[in-house]
Amino acid sequence: MTNNQKLNTWVKQVAQMCEPDSIHWCTGSDEEYSQMCELLVKHGTFIKLNSEKKPNSFYCRSQASDVARVEDKTFICSEKNIDAGPTNNWKDPKEMKNILTGLFKGCMKGRTMYVIPYSMGPLGSKISYIGVEITDSLYVVVNMRIMTRMGRKALDVLGNGDFVPCLHSVGMPLKTGVSDVSWPSNNEHKYIVHFPEDKSIWSYGSGYGGNALLGKKCFALRIASIMARNEGWLAEHMLIIGITSPAGIKKYFAAAFPSASGKTNLAMLKSSLPGWKVECVGDDIAWLKFGEDGRLYAINPEAGFFGVAPGTSYSTNEYAMETLKSNSIFTNVALTPDYDIWWEGMTEEKPAKLTDWLGKEWTPASGTNAAHPNARFTTPARQCPVIDPDWEDPIGVPISAMIFGGRRASVIPLVFQAFNWQHGTFLGSTLSSETTAAAAGEVGKVRRDPFAMLPFSGYNMGDYFSHWLTIGKSAAPEKLPKIFYVNWFRKNPQGKFLWPGYGENMRVLKWIFERVTGSENAVETPIGYMPDVSHLDVGGLNISISDLTEILKINKDEWLKEIEGIKEFYKIFGDRLPMGLNNELVALENRLMKSTL
Ligand code: OXD
Ligand code: MN
Repeated sequence: MTNNQKLNTWVKQVAQMCEPDSIHWCTGSDEEYSQMCELLVKHGTFIKLNSEKKPNSFYCRSQASDVARVEDKTFICSEKNIDAGPTNNWKDPKEMKNILTGLFKGCMKGRTMYVIPYSMGPLGSKISYIGVEITDSLYVVVNMRIMTRMGRKALDVLGNGDFVPCLHSVGMPLKTGVSDVSWPSNNEHKYIVHFPEDKSIWSYGSGYGGNALLGKKCFALRIASIMARNEGWLAEHMLIIGITSPAGIKKYFAAAFPSASGKTNLAMLKSSLPGWKVECVGDDIAWLKFGEDGRLYAINPEAGFFGVAPGTSYSTNEYAMETLKSNSIFTNVALTPDYDIWWEGMTEEKPAKLTDWLGKEWTPASGTNAAHPNARFTTPARQCPVIDPDWEDPIGVPISAMIFGGRRASVIPLVFQAFNWQHGTFLGSTLSSETTAAAAGEVGKVRRDPFAMLPFSGYNMGDYFSHWLTIGKSAAPEKLPKIFYVNWFRKNPQGKFLWPGYGENMRVLKWIFERVTGSENAVETPIGYMPDVSHLDVGGLNISISDLTEILKINKDEWLKEIEGIKEFYKIFGDRLPMGLNNELVALENRLMKSTL
């Protein structure tokens, strides 16, 4: 199927180990996709949705035990434990390969082995890379078709070049005469493993999301972060948006938020401010490389959105709802009697009758969620009504601002700006979220999620911080994006959100836009540059001055306590914590102590 010797040899070796019944090289054509979806319907994995409501779309339920990324089963198997760092699971690579070889032996018996060549990023872009996933899951193949540019065209770009080998099996060989289940997976063994030194991925036992669609978290973040460190670029858990002002000036921002903090919503924000427009380049991952002019250019390595469905509605994210109207796959949502889909939050009124994500009859009186909280839609990015015209530009888009977003009920104000790149790196390293009332006794517990990369850095997070500092030294300061920190989730002492969020976040983006285009509308505070009440455009917004003052407040005692939390967190990195970040922490403490706040 290819002249690429490394690929041919690898496919042969994998086939010998996994013993599939047959091998299928994916072409990526429309006919192939349709045939595969038909086959999934025949196997009972897919249910075809009502063609009038959701043309060319399918419904799918996973095993109840296979519904999310499994972080405790995710490993970075570098030669040395220290190179995986304190935030990753580690095992000796030889030991791990022994375990995996044992599990993969004969694991595809009775199944077809699919070879999926794919490009992360626009075909042929200098920022893109080729991966090849081998899988025994047809569900994975059709999802990869939406999420990446896959098939013959990726193979053409690959030529004789190098690729990231990604091996996946659901871990459920089929014995002769035994019929398949609709969602094959392995309840006993799950392993999501990355080998940094040979840049390879082995995933076993799960068919779901980031565990199985290996181009996403495994390649585009964990392995790519290692490549990025080695080669002098950035692979980040960031959305990318283009903002156009009423004067027609356009700037691109990239933003990192912890999982489940509204990234897809921000990526497709419908501006509440007349004349301001937001367009989407990507909703989850950004790869950034320096262009010839010394600026950082970003691409979205993905071609689709694998979004969390519950909470997505015409009021929270109109453009996502428009995107997923056709050619989409819905996993673990609820099914309506007329073969459409529903999830919590989609409509104010709940449907009278549904089949839930477990396949059981459901009514509002059931008292359970009809859709799993991590139910997903897989949908082509090109269908997004606000997809940026340059989202597939092989050069990428020049980034003017990078935004870190926390989910904090207190301490962190609505928005502030770092003094410089090193200070911005410090802010990224302290990114955190507070746990919600969902878990008894845990309210307000701060979980650090540096750069929103805690589960996604493929190497020691301390070294990752150093890499960010190095990137900052590779360009003139005026060429680098300005760095900001936002917090949409601050609450008043009574527990009410102070900021309306969603489309109104445009007001904060506007201030950031103005800052990167030369506005002096900011005050210098111990934590960074901040807008005062008069600098934020709140015209037409129903917010009291006292709430606005509250959301922009810096409380010295709270911040000094925050510093203690950061010191505690930094300790885990030992001597891998770069001096620059420690200096920033000390400088912040000094500024706060000296201030008259
Ligand atoms: C995701 C995640 O699925 O961050 O994007 O968990
Ligand atoms: Mn994500």
